[in-house]
Amino acid sequence: MKLLRTLLMSFLALGLMAPASFAAGNAAKGKALFNNPKAFGGSTSCNFCHPGGKGLEDAGMQKEWSTPAGKTRTLEEAINLCIVNANRGKALDVKSAQMADIVAYIKSLGKKKKK
Ligand code: HEC
Repeated sequence: MKLLRTLLMSFLALGLMAPASFAAGNAAKGKALFNNPKAFGGSTSCNFCHPGGKGLEDAGMQKEWSTPAGKTRTLEEAINLCIVNANRGKALDVKSAQMADIVAYIKSLGKKKKK
């Protein structure tokens, strides 16, 4: 009985979480990835160089991005360049839920600033 209830609750929770993480990205999950040094198989967190997302407040609204490894035309490419060259990790699939979560987190930084 207890197992059944646990299972039911987990399905419910998954059902509630799935639309947020796959469609628009989940800023809270993105923040957790941003702060986790091991998130991309590298050794540094994004937060190490961008503490609290500082300096990325406008990154959700730009048309061109600039990272130490070069300029890009999409935010996802900029994130991947930092993952590979700064974090020394593995690039994410630009359509992955993780990428959507990080994008959501970065976009949330701009909203916070404007208030
Ligand atoms: C070793 C330091 C370092 C790490 C780690 C790092 N970055 Fe960066 N990142 C930079 C620097 C330096 C820039 C260039 C900043 C600038 O030109 O204003 C940059 C630029 C960016 C930009 C483009 C900003 C813009 O306005 O064009 C984004 C987006 C970004 N980083 C996201 C990330 C994410 C996400 C991670 C983690 C996966 C990460 N960075 C990890 C140093 C780092």
